[in-house]
Amino acid sequence: MSLILGVETSCDETSASVIEGSGDKAVLRSLVILSQDIHRVFGGVVPEIASRAHLTSIVPVVASALSEADVALHDLHAIAVTSAPGLVGALLVGVCYAKSLGFTRGIPVVSVHHMEGHLFATSLEHEGAVPPFTALLVSGGHTMLLDVEEWGYYRLLGVTRDDAAGEAFDKVAKMLGLPYPGGRHVENLARAGDPSLFRFRHPMVKRSDTAADSDYYAFSFSGLKTAVLNAVRGSVDIETDRAGIARGFQDALIGSLVEKTLRAARAHGRERIVLGGGVACNKALVSALAERAATIGATVFAPSPRLATDNAAMIARAGLFRHERGEHAGLDLNAYATQPIPGLVAA
Ligand code: KG4
Ligand code: ZN
Repeated sequence: MSLILGVETSCDETSASVIEGSGDKAVLRSLVILSQDIHRVFGGVVPEIASRAHLTSIVPVVASALSEADVALHDLHAIAVTSAPGLVGALLVGVCYAKSLGFTRGIPVVSVHHMEGHLFATSLEHEGAVPPFTALLVSGGHTMLLDVEEWGYYRLLGVTRDDAAGEAFDKVAKMLGLPYPGGRHVENLARAGDPSLFRFRHPMVKRSDTAADSDYYAFSFSGLKTAVLNAVRGSVDIETDRAGIARGFQDALIGSLVEKTLRAARAHGRERIVLGGGVACNKALVSALAERAATIGATVFAPSPRLATDNAAMIARAGLFRHERGEHAGLDLNAYATQPIPGLVAA
């Protein structure tokens, strides 16, 4: 059994967590997430403010994760930290902190890719969310469809050609006068919307698509975003139309995500589908996917909102996997704005 401290500072959440486990049996001992509310004022994350906020909160956030878990520093077997992708200044706070702590206390440091963290998050809550599975990762910065035969071996089937799913939610929220980050608000508004009033085309989905098409598993949301903008501009009574537009947008976006994910599960004969990333909080997405998955005998595993959005527990969990493989980082570990997930291969 290993005790792993996870540290996550890639965007606007300062988070620390302790997990305990071995192999696929991992238990959450503590999770502290400090969200930087200040960015709401600007309608988006301001990188320099995010870095400074991480600096002031990293020490107390880690201290409270250790105390909540009733774990002392010398009990830890490894410190897992997000080193990519994300805002470099924000990542550097976590990376420098983890390296200093590891160096002074003689604890190995494990470098974790943020998206690999999202891939592992659901397994902390659902025993069945382990490979082989089809994975749909939908966050503010990424939209990825993967076939996961085993941990550490990821076949990349599709990505977005432009905006990420979460980004599309946030931009549409802005058009509809909703606060940032807008995904949750669009979902709430859509619930009250009539699905027949505004229908948008499901992006990148055609009946005639075949697996030989380069777009078969690909996503694109910028055209849908423009269609929503045109609907907003064309509305004579936006107060009445807002809910219907939100509903039409969400239905189209979900339709595309569900179709591509089903194609992937079917083609690879997977009976499990694992969701990850902030957009996985969306209940309409989870239920639409579960309904379609049932038609091919597949089960959908979705994380709870706390583990779907950015958190350090998922970093500790992916870190446990890398730690058990003896993958420890040196003091030259750096932060990177973009980097492929380790073990990622093209389809
Ligand atoms: O994974 P995450 O916390 O951060 C990144 O790594 O980007 O994802 C944040 C994204 C935001 O775009 C946010 O609007 C979206 O997840 N989101 C949602 C919902 N809750 C959060 N999108 C749709 N429906 C939701 N309920
Ligand atoms: Zn994320």
